[in-house]
Amino acid sequence: MPDTAATPKVKTLPDAQTVTSVTHWDDQLFSFRCTRPKSLRFRSGEFVMIGLMGENGKPLLRAYSIASPSWDDELEFYSIKVQDGPLTSRLQHIQPGEQIILRPKPVGTLVHDALLPGKRLWFLATGTGIAPFASLMRDPETYEKYDQVIMMHTCRALSELEYGRQLIEALREDPLIGEMVEGKLLYYPTTTRETSARMGRITDNLTSGKVFDDLGIPGPMSPDNDRAMVCGSLAFNLDLKDVLEGWNLREGANSDPADYVVEKAFVGE
Ligand code: A2P
Repeated sequence: MPDTAATPKVKTLPDAQTVTSVTHWDDQLFSFRCTRPKSLRFRSGEFVMIGLMGENGKPLLRAYSIASPSWDDELEFYSIKVQDGPLTSRLQHIQPGEQIILRPKPVGTLVHDALLPGKRLWFLATGTGIAPFASLMRDPETYEKYDQVIMMHTCRALSELEYGRQLIEALREDPLIGEMVEGKLLYYPTTTRETSARMGRITDNLTSGKVFDDLGIPGPMSPDNDRAMVCGSLAFNLDLKDVLEGWNLREGANSDPADYVVEKAFVGE
């Protein structure tokens, strides 16, 4: 029986990629890896459009940060599960061997090119906003360019920090990057709703000086030394912009590199 238009198959599309592994972190978060098109070149920190074929036969795509570094043979993505979300209600059930659609046009501002040279680099993320930093933390260029890299990640509950925690643990033991990371990468995870060893919003821990005290590093930030990349909800991004501008850091872009860059964490559905 020939295929009809009513039964579209992803594998007939030129942009199809095959899922190689899936990890469920809790009932709200999962990550997966897939094949990488040979022609896809991207800068660590960029995002692409990915998705599945919709019921109507049209691709259903959302912007996702690539969580894997640019040297990786495969691609990794980190996602929330929205039970009634058009895409993630289905994407969360994806299995190894199945296919997704990937539009190979990477873009984004959370890239080294959008920042001027500096000494300390801050990665500031809430929730799935850690995805672009999962890429950048695994990129040797990050450690070549900066003396110190500080990853602040804040979520409501501990289970939401697990993807980042395990990634950083693996990074420290990695034969390739482990040595570069040693002593340079500082990790500051906090929760806001579940009690844990470290708590509080990133904005509060920065403005109170707590993060500088806890890590034993000089504060506050200054445009002479510090560069920052921000990725979270719209409210988080706006509040953090105020904090960074208050310390005289200037927002940069690909066309005008400066002291900090911001991008919204995608896929709210
Ligand atoms: P809080 O629990 O105090 O709201 P969400 O799940 O709502 O996207 O939030 C993810 C994390 O980001 C939570 O820990 C939340 O803290 C924190 N957060 C939300 N909005 C802001 C903001 N405007 N400034 C700083 N942190 C924020």
